Amino acid sequence: MAVKPFGKQFRADFPLEDEYIPISHGAHGSYPAAVQAYVDEYNRRAEKHPDRWHRFDFRPLLQENLERAAALIKCDPKDIVFVANSSTGVNNILRSFPFEEGDKILCYQTTYINCDKTLDFLTHYKKVELVRVELNYPLEDDEVIRLTKEAIEREHAKDSSKKIRLGFFDAISSLPGVCMPYQALTKLFREYDIPSFVDGAHAIGHIELNLAELDPDFFVSNCHKWLFTPRGCAILYVSKRYQGWIHPTAIQYAYQHHDNPMDGSSFNEEHVPGVINLTSYLCVGPALDYRESIGGEEVIRKYNHELAVQGGELVANMLGTQVMENSTKTLTANMVNIELPIKNTTKTDQEITSFFMKKSIYEYNTILVVYKHNSKWWVRLCGQIYVDLDDFKATGEIILKMIKELEQA
Ligand SMILES: Cc1ncc(COP(=O)(O)O)c(C=O)c1O
Repeated sequence: MAVKPFGKQFRADFPLEDEYIPISHGAHGSYPAAVQAYVDEYNRRAEKHPDRWHRFDFRPLLQENLERAAALIKCDPKDIVFVANSSTGVNNILRSFPFEEGDKILCYQTTYINCDKTLDFLTHYKKVELVRVELNYPLEDDEVIRLTKEAIEREHAKDSSKKIRLGFFDAISSLPGVCMPYQALTKLFREYDIPSFVDGAHAIGHIELNLAELDPDFFVSNCHKWLFTPRGCAILYVSKRYQGWIHPTAIQYAYQHHDNPMDGSSFNEEHVPGVINLTSYLCVGPALDYRESIGGEEVIRKYNHELAVQGGELVANMLGTQVMENSTKTLTANMVNIELPIKNTTKTDQEITSFFMKKSIYEYNTILVVYKHNSKWWVRLCGQIYVDLDDFKATGEIILKMIKELEQA
């Protein structure tokens, strides 16, 4: 089947406003009309006969969608469940893992705010200690590994009785929007016998995943970011080594206590939530079908990545700055971070972030996610099939105007 070329013309497949420049897909995602048809159909079925739907009919669909997700990320469907979002998945794991007072969790200062706050919660409620590794990008992958290894060794040397019980890290972090060497980190933590939790919120539909090969202990990913499902759909993977210990934050009827972490007998049923609207969970298959119809995962990934790289260069040239990248070019997948030449302003950091956020939405009908990292200002832009180089150029022009406005304000 002939498919129209990716770019602005693909916006017609999505319910996006005509004049909006959707250059930050990674933040909230978007889904096509082809998927909306399934949302409408499932909602109709649920409302026509709520008892039949909520007691029986959604079940085979849920299973089918879990199997589609598992096939994509190459894992046993029994090892994944659906959750509403990555924050929920992170909470399910962190709040049910049997941490003991004094246990340490290794994480990074780039950890996403919701996850960082959940870790902070654990310091109060479980009396765990956080070992935060500072990452100042652009970094080589080897440096991330070295800094992590040094932190583990340093903590072990301090007091061998206080264990690092978990390594928590991103596949692709949020701000900056860069790829972490999550495969090498998983391997490193395994060498020290430390369970690994990969926050892959941005990963599914963005980078190729192979969980069978990776073999993490825990992994979570939002389908509503890069996979084109409606919001409220994420997969949570728990290795068979720990399924007995992991329970949803909202406990329901299927709860069972397991002393043996390898007893996963109630893991899947415990994660079927009480009565909520489950239609987002049932849209993984339709989203994958749509993606297949327009070329498939590899073709989408290639376009998005090349656009992010070329668009990033284009905007950096317009601004006279640089893209956040390392010598082996592993930082950029479909999100690209470009330095902003902000110099003459008396505004606080908070005011600058908020200035770009609000004004870009309400005055320029786009969205500029602007943040400070390693003492410099950056903007994070995203490649997506409905965006093209002209959108990056238009965004570069908006950024130039806004910096002038900021410096004159
Ligand atoms: C790295 C990372 N982790 C977790 C999350 C949380 O995702 P959600 O808000 O869907 O729970 C995000 C959201 O952007 C993220 O970027």
